[in-house]
Amino acid sequence: MQKIVILGTGGTIAGRAARADDAVGYRAAELGVQALIDAVPPLAGWPLEAEQVAQRDSKDMDIGTWLLLAQRAAHHLARPDVAGVVVTHGTDTLEETAWFLHRVLAPAKPLVLTAAMRPATALSADGPQNLFDAVTLAAEPGACGVLAVLAGQAHGAADLRKVHTIRLEAFSSGDSGPVALIQSGRVKVLRPWPTGDAVGLPATPADAWPWVAVVANHAGADGREVRALVQSGVAGLVVAGTGNGSLSAGLEAALHAAQSAGVAVRRSSRCAFGPVIDPADGVGSPIPSAGDRTVWQARVNLLLELAIRRS
Ligand code: SIN
Repeated sequence: MQKIVILGTGGTIAGRAARADDAVGYRAAELGVQALIDAVPPLAGWPLEAEQVAQRDSKDMDIGTWLLLAQRAAHHLARPDVAGVVVTHGTDTLEETAWFLHRVLAPAKPLVLTAAMRPATALSADGPQNLFDAVTLAAEPGACGVLAVLAGQAHGAADLRKVHTIRLEAFSSGDSGPVALIQSGRVKVLRPWPTGDAVGLPATPADAWPWVAVVANHAGADGREVRALVQSGVAGLVVAGTGNGSLSAGLEAALHAAQSAGVAVRRSSRCAFGPVIDPADGVGSPIPSAGDRTVWQARVNLLLELAIRRS
């Protein structure tokens, strides 16, 4: 039987509270990945390997950790004795990490992220079931690509969105729906596994990656923050437009000026799902559109584009 490698990075799944009835006042990223595995009795007979890549609350995720995680995942996925890799992670930036790994690796084996909404010490912790489901999916013959497993659903990296702050079913793939369901140790495949073209890992060291910031359209948006960011040396900007990507006149003018000053600008939407309208559609702002990528995915894309240019 091929092995599954589990890479720990922290998150609520590794969180600990002082009391079992406290699902909010806990500290994320306290338990090591081996302790998470030990808390899942049905995993006892599985050929597993564990590696602690990081130990952090995912709100503090950074480029250095992404690069290390991608390197370790690629290393293990290339091993002929490994069927798939699982990553334990926080939920807060799960969709960014998933998209980053999808863009740089687009693996031919399953790379399955999992997380939890309740800490490991909670009365009814969701982490052990999610970890078991993630390992089950990573061992599924024919599975591939970057996926995230929570609450019995496997989402592809492209569609993954965190849509709720506290519910156990905090993630959604919107209209596309999950790629698969995991029920009682069985995988029910609903759609094709996610695939893509990997851009590879840029050679640029973590401390030389470009600064890419996010700004938003909103009532009263006049572009002042864009001018301040350009003054401060920002290299790229992703704007979260309203609705289908619309921008106030003041914000749009400031973004055009930023482009003229050499800043790369991409336009996405504040909405969780759906494409932004493009000049190619005959309407919409000429600020380059990020297609149907979310603001956070568009930011990862722009980071990679600029980092690859620097490498
Ligand atoms: C985190 O993202 O690391 C903390 C919150 C969570 O995992 O739900």
